[in-house]
This record gives sequence, C-alpha cells and structure tokens, in this order.
Amino acid sequence: MAVSKKDLLEMGLQKMYFIENTITEELPKMMKESHEDKLIRALGYHLEQTKNQTTRLESIFQSLGLNTKKQKDPTFLSLVSEGGGGLKKIDDAYLKDMAVIEAALKVEHSEMAMYQGLINWCKLLGAEEEAKILEQSLGEEMVTADGLTMLAGTLMRSVVSEV
Ligand SMILES: [Fe+2]
Repeated sequence: MAVSKKDLLEMGLQKMYFIENTITEELPKMMKESHEDKLIRALGYHLEQTKNQTTRLESIFQSLGLNTKKQKDPTFLSLVSEGGGGLKKIDDAYLKDMAVIEAALKVEHSEMAMYQGLINWCKLLGAEEEAKILEQSLGEEMVTADGLTMLAGTLMRSVVSEV
C-alpha cells in the first residue's frame, strides 16, 4: 500500500505527541535530579512550554482531521532511558547537573529535527497555518537548546576558575 504525504505527517505527529507527553512526565524527574537554580528554572519553564506544544499538536490533529493518537518512538525512548538511568548513578551535584544538561540537549536536538520534518510535510501538503504553529514549537526548542548550551558553558567556567 502506498504511503501518502498525509500518512507520513500523521505518523510523525503521533510520534511527536507521544514524545511531548513523555517529556511532560520526564522533566519533573530531571528537575528533582538537578541542583543549580538556573537549571531547575530552565527545565520548569520548558515544562510549561512542552504542555503548550502538546496542545498545539492536538489542535493540528483536529484541524487536519487526523487521528489524535500517541505512537511510541523507540529511538526517543532509548534517549530518555539513557539520560534518566545514568543520572541516578552520579553522586556529585555538579557532574549531575552537567549530565542533566547533556540528556536534555539530546532530547531537544532530536525534537528540533522532528519538528522540522513535520513542518516540511505540512508545507508539502499546503497546510501553511499548521506549519506556522509547528514553527512556534520549533523556535521554543531552539531557544531552550541555546539556553542549556550557554548554561553548560557558565557552569564549566565556574569550575575552571576555581582551579
Ligand atoms: Fe518539546
């Protein structure tokens, strides 16, 4: 059976819907593992954004007449379990914060690639409004990734200057 552009968009949206819902569950756990105030605040802020991103996806399922369903994404799940599982083994607060940032960045970059793919499918289908909505989410992921990258730099400089 041939797969259409719309099928590909629907599958991608369902994976993204699964991912955003999983992140909504995972971010509070990552916040608990974090120590640095700025990191906890950044993750908390992104948690609220993630909830909005989930609502945006629901609106797109509706407006395009697609099936609002979560489709498990094994690649993403392995990213999350790798990050979450590893954190428990780290005792040092600073190292744990650096590992939280690394885990969060892996997720953010994977989301950025997936949102860009969804935007492309929307544009190929002529769903310009939906593409614009997804661009908002992509922009938020990019800003989050930039913020975490800068925070990692700040944390590293603070340690280097202590030596
Ligand atoms: Fe997200």
